[in-house]
Amino acid sequence: MCGIVGYIGSGNVYDILIKGLHRLEYRGYDSAGIALVNDAGKLAVYKAKGKVHNLEEYCNDKPKEEAVAGIAHTRWATHGEPSDHNAHPHYSEDGNLALVHNGTIENYQLLKDALIEQGCTFKSETDTEVLVQLIEYIKVKNDCSLLDAVRKALHEVVGAYAIAVLEKDNPDTIIAARKSSPLVVGIGDGEFLLASDATPIVEYTKDVVYLKDEEIAILQRGKPIQLVTLENEKAEIDVKKLELSISQLEKGGFPHFMLKEIFEQPKTLLDCIRGRVIDNGKKVMVNGVIDNKLKFIRAKRIVIVACGTSWHAALIGKYLLQDMCKIPVAVEYASEFRYSRPVLDNNDVVIAISQSGETADTLAAVKIARKMGAFVYGISNVVGSSIPRETDSGTYIHVGPEIGVASTKAFTGQVMVLTMLALSVAQLRGTMTDKEITEIAREILTIPEKVDNILKTLNEKVKNMSLIYTYARNFLYLGRGYSYPVALEGALKLKEISYVHAEGYPAAEMKHGPIALIDEEMPSVIIAPKDHLYDKIVNNVQQVKARGGSIIAVVTEGDDLISQIADHVLEVPKVSECLTPIITSIPLQLISYYIAINKGKNVDMPRNLAKSVTVE
Ligand code: AGP
Ligand code: GLU
Repeated sequence: MCGIVGYIGSGNVYDILIKGLHRLEYRGYDSAGIALVNDAGKLAVYKAKGKVHNLEEYCNDKPKEEAVAGIAHTRWATHGEPSDHNAHPHYSEDGNLALVHNGTIENYQLLKDALIEQGCTFKSETDTEVLVQLIEYIKVKNDCSLLDAVRKALHEVVGAYAIAVLEKDNPDTIIAARKSSPLVVGIGDGEFLLASDATPIVEYTKDVVYLKDEEIAILQRGKPIQLVTLENEKAEIDVKKLELSISQLEKGGFPHFMLKEIFEQPKTLLDCIRGRVIDNGKKVMVNGVIDNKLKFIRAKRIVIVACGTSWHAALIGKYLLQDMCKIPVAVEYASEFRYSRPVLDNNDVVIAISQSGETADTLAAVKIARKMGAFVYGISNVVGSSIPRETDSGTYIHVGPEIGVASTKAFTGQVMVLTMLALSVAQLRGTMTDKEITEIAREILTIPEKVDNILKTLNEKVKNMSLIYTYARNFLYLGRGYSYPVALEGALKLKEISYVHAEGYPAAEMKHGPIALIDEEMPSVIIAPKDHLYDKIVNNVQQVKARGGSIIAVVTEGDDLISQIADHVLEVPKVSECLTPIITSIPLQLISYYIAINKGKNVDMPRNLAKSVTVE
C-alpha cells in the first residue's frame, strides 16, 4: 500500500534510503523501517512506529556507515496494529533474510499454520512475516538460491505484493518482485534504486524499468539488471525515461503540498488542455478517442469505474457524455463493480479513472472488463502506472505529481479530460454541431485564467470566512445536476483533512431525510451556479434558511437572488453549464484546506489515509 525503497551501489545507503522514505511519505503510512547489510555479512533491521523521523532518531546511535545495500519501508497496516514489532522489514526466523512488503497475502493464515506445524515461530501479527518465513523455509529445505526460493514461495501466495528481500550472506544482491502492487527500478551509474513510485528515484537517474505483474528483478552490484518471471523465464527489460523533475516534488514556497496543488491549477489545466484543444478551439483532439473511433462510434453504453474523488469525476463524466454524446452512462464504484457479476460485452466502453493508476479495486475492474470483451479506456495521472498499462487505450491528465493525499488538481484535470473526451466523441458521433463544439472548446481555453482569478479573489475571503465555521461539527454540501458531484467532492475534501463530518447530497433529496438535521449549528454549503436548475435550487436554499441553518453559497458573479438569502457568498465567473464543476470546486478546496489548518490538522498526510490504495 505504502512505500518501498531499496538501494545497492557505492552511495551512502542509509542516507539514500531515508531520503527515499521521506519522498514516499505523501503516500500515507503508520510506521517505518530499514534493513542494512554490509560486506561482513551483518544484516541489521531498525524500525519504529510513527513518522520517518522517529526511525531516524532511533537509528542515530546505530551502526550504518558500512552498509553496501539496503531496503526500507513505510507501512500502512492491514494485518496487525501499527507498532514497532509489526513494522517492516521482517526477519526470517534465523535472521538470514529481511523482507519488506506492500500489499496483502490473502492465504497467510493457511501458510502460517503450515509453517507453525514445521516449527516456525512468529514475532508479529503481519501477513508479511509469513512470506519471509516461507521463503527461508523453502530455501533451507531445498538448499536452493534465494531467487529460486522467492519464485517458489510466490507460487504459493494468493494476494497482492511488492517485495524486496536482502540476504545476510549475499550483500551484493537485492531480489524484488511484484503482483498488483507497484514497483519501479532506477538504473543509475553503477547503482540501482528500487521504489514504489519514481519519486525517490528521480534525483539519481531518469532511466527506469517498471516491473510487470509476477516479474522478479535481480539487482546485483556491478552487473546489469536481470528480470525473470515466476517460471524463471527471462523477461524483457524495457527501460523508460522519467519525465519527472525534483522541483515538482517540493513545496515551492507554499506551506503545504495541498495549497501548492490548489494554486497550481491554472497551470495544470493548461498542461491538460495543451495539444488537445487546437486551432483556437476549432478542433478537439483526444488521441486515444481518435485512434479508437469505431469503439466510441459504436458504443451502446459507457460504464465508468473509479474510487473516491475519481468516482466523483466519473459522475460528472456521466452528465457530460450523456449530454454531449447521447450515450447511456453508468457510474460504478470499482470495489462494487468487481464483485457485482457485471454484464458487459464488446459493444461497451469501460472508462477507468484513477489519479495514481494503481488503485487495486479500479485495476481489478479494468481486468474484469477486458476479460469480458469490453473496450477499456484509462484516465490516469501517473505515467507508467498499472492502469495505463492494463487498458486498451487512454489519456493522461498531465497535472504533474500530486503529493497531497487530498486530491485537488487531479480532480480538475480528470474533469477537464472527461470534458474534452466527450466533445471529441460528440464530434465523431455527430451529436453536436461544429458550432456548438467550437463554442465550448473556446471556453475551455479560458478556464485556466478564470481559475487563476478565482484563486486571487477568493483565497483571502475563504481564509477569513473559514474561522467562523471551524468549530461546526457537521456540514451539508448540496448541489443539483453538474453541481451534485461537486457537492460530494466538497464534502469528501472536508472529511478527509479536517475530520469533520460532512455529507454531500443532491439538493432536492434533502427534504426526504437530511433536512431533519438542519439547525443553527449545521451549516450548508450550496453550489448554485446559474444553470438550468438554478430556479429549482433557490427553493432548496429557502428550505434550509427557513430552518435556521446558515448558508455558504457558491454562485455565479452578479447573482442577486441566492446572494440575498445566504450568509456567505463566494462568486465564481460565468461559464457554460458543462464547465461549472471545474470552476465551483475551487472555493470548496479552499474551504476544506483552511478549516483543516485552523484545526491544526496535517492536511498533506491526514490520519488513516493513503494516497495510493493498492489493497482491497
Ligand atoms: C482523494 O482526495 C482521496 N484521497 C481518494 O478518495 C482517492 O481519490 C481514491 O483513493 C482514488 O485514488 P485514485 O484516483 O488514485 O485511483
Ligand atoms: N499487509 C502488510 C502489513 O500489514 C503490508 C502493508 C503495507 O502495504 O504497508 O504489514
